[in-house]
Amino acid sequence: MTKEIDGYVSDLPKGCITETDIYTDKGVLLCPKMTVIDNNMLNKLSNYKGRIKAVVSYAQPPVIDPDLELPDEDESITFDESFKKYAVETLKRIFSDVDDVVALTKGAAEIGEEVYAIIGNSKALCINLEKLKVSDEYTYKHSIDVGTMAAVLAKALGENEHFVRAVTVSGLLHDIGKEKIPSEVINKPARLTKDEYEMIKTHPVYGYKLLMDAELVSEEMRQAILNHHENLDGSGYPRGLTEEYIGKMAQILSIVDVYDALITERSYKSAKSPSQAIEIMFTMSNKFNMAYFKTFLSIINAFPNGTQVLLSTGEVAVVMRQNKSYPLRPVIKILDSQKVINLAHDLRYLSTVILGAA
Ligand SMILES: [Fe+2]
Repeated sequence: MTKEIDGYVSDLPKGCITETDIYTDKGVLLCPKMTVIDNNMLNKLSNYKGRIKAVVSYAQPPVIDPDLELPDEDESITFDESFKKYAVETLKRIFSDVDDVVALTKGAAEIGEEVYAIIGNSKALCINLEKLKVSDEYTYKHSIDVGTMAAVLAKALGENEHFVRAVTVSGLLHDIGKEKIPSEVINKPARLTKDEYEMIKTHPVYGYKLLMDAELVSEEMRQAILNHHENLDGSGYPRGLTEEYIGKMAQILSIVDVYDALITERSYKSAKSPSQAIEIMFTMSNKFNMAYFKTFLSIINAFPNGTQVLLSTGEVAVVMRQNKSYPLRPVIKILDSQKVINLAHDLRYLSTVILGAA
């Protein structure tokens, strides 16, 4: 739902996203389009007292779907323990000798086939990364997370079977080039020097080169691995490509890779909550394909049942149940009043949004 504002900063609804650039009456850019208007942003903008014109939308359009069905149980994709064990053992083998390209791509293709079998046969198009977790070791967990989320996103975008399989394997192998960079740089628990960062930026090229002669990896998959850190606005690496030169597969990998990195704790950074990660990614909207990103929001379980959340009304609530079609507008119970509200249905709460975990 969009709304035209012809008034003042105070008229901007909390939690909305700007659809147009906002200028001061002197023509100075106040706020670029696709900015999340959260409390911090409102405080920042409130120094300007003049008039503004803007079009804004809500992060999750509060559209009423009369046929909306509430799932009774968590319908997310899950892996059983034997698959997790098998996937980690295979990944360990793959990462132990990345120069054995035949074994490496065969192993990745096998896991990709299993992941595809699980996703292809599942009606669920939703992922709960906690449940998916195959290992505590970052490399294996991240590879599986990226491969699986990329597959589910591609399926949700309506891609064909061939593409979904290919993007799964590309996701599993997207960071394989890191194995060619000293591990003390990759795992450095402190800020990287300029030279170290330059070293990290070569990993997509190493990945591309490693897979150059791999029969099971197509050029489209290699390009996706080479371009998974490119941003649509040209600010990425290694080549600084812009939108028209970055393929669909790389655009998918980029979204799921950044999300997984944000929500994962490493020795040098704390983990963000899913809602914080989404908020951060909204502010990086020039970098991602926003159509894909909006579909991505529908596949991740941003506010799992039981999460305490802060509403734009200032109230704290607990998430009771998910709304499949509106992942950012679940059924909640307000803690103070104990009132249960369906954020996708209740007309009185259409302009209320979840600001994040409480
Ligand atoms: Fe990477």
